[in-house]
Amino acid sequence: MNRDVIIACDFASAEETYAFLDRFTEEKPFVKIGMELYYAEGPAIVRELHQRGHKIFLDLKLHDIPNTVEKAMAVLSRLEVEMVNLHAAGTKAMMEAALRGLTRADGTRPILLAVTQLTSTSEERMHDELLIGGTISDCVCHYARMAKEAGLDGVVCSPLEAGMVKEHCGAEFLTVTPGIRFADGKVGDQVRVTTPARAREIGSDYIVVGRPITAAEDPVAAYRKCVKEFV
Ligand code: C5P
Repeated sequence: MNRDVIIACDFASAEETYAFLDRFTEEKPFVKIGMELYYAEGPAIVRELHQRGHKIFLDLKLHDIPNTVEKAMAVLSRLEVEMVNLHAAGTKAMMEAALRGLTRADGTRPILLAVTQLTSTSEERMHDELLIGGTISDCVCHYARMAKEAGLDGVVCSPLEAGMVKEHCGAEFLTVTPGIRFADGKVGDQVRVTTPARAREIGSDYIVVGRPITAAEDPVAAYRKCVKEFV
């Protein structure tokens, strides 16, 4: 079991990111590079953080026609990242194309995850705005099963859904879960949240933690608290 804490480096520039990560003198946290940082700094930031010894989850949540996603994934697979992702809503054909694009000539590839429903989406908005009926759980399980059938390694979902996903897709199917908050912390725009300790009990393999660490007065202490509760 590779249980680990991934820090969401949602910063606007490389300088801010390095200033933040330089505070970690004793550990090399697994980091997540999302749209903000990647669009600001491009592949150079990925190469630099890899050089510095960080494992990287490149969270670009691809969602386009299968051919475009396949080609984009082929480009991303040349970066030394541990994980990449896409939206399961892009269909099974898109996920299969993504896997083809991601697989290198020697057969290796980064872990590929599907986003089910964003942890900021409530059931009410899923019904009223996305016109998806049923419960969020139904939708998450259905998307997870599609991802598994397409050959993906796991899903990004709420920690509250991790146990259910494992029941449907098997213990080996990875659950990577944002929406983590300390018991006494601010929730912000996230809706389906829980604590690192509870995420562990439910069965998350990796938790993705942003603001509870990046906006903490002492980020290193906050990171260690997450690791202690979760790993
Ligand atoms: O600051 P916070 O802990 O809410 O950050 C969570 C991170 O996880 C953000 O980078 C967000 O984009 C990402 N994420 C999410 N929900 C998903 C997938 C990714 O919150 N379903």
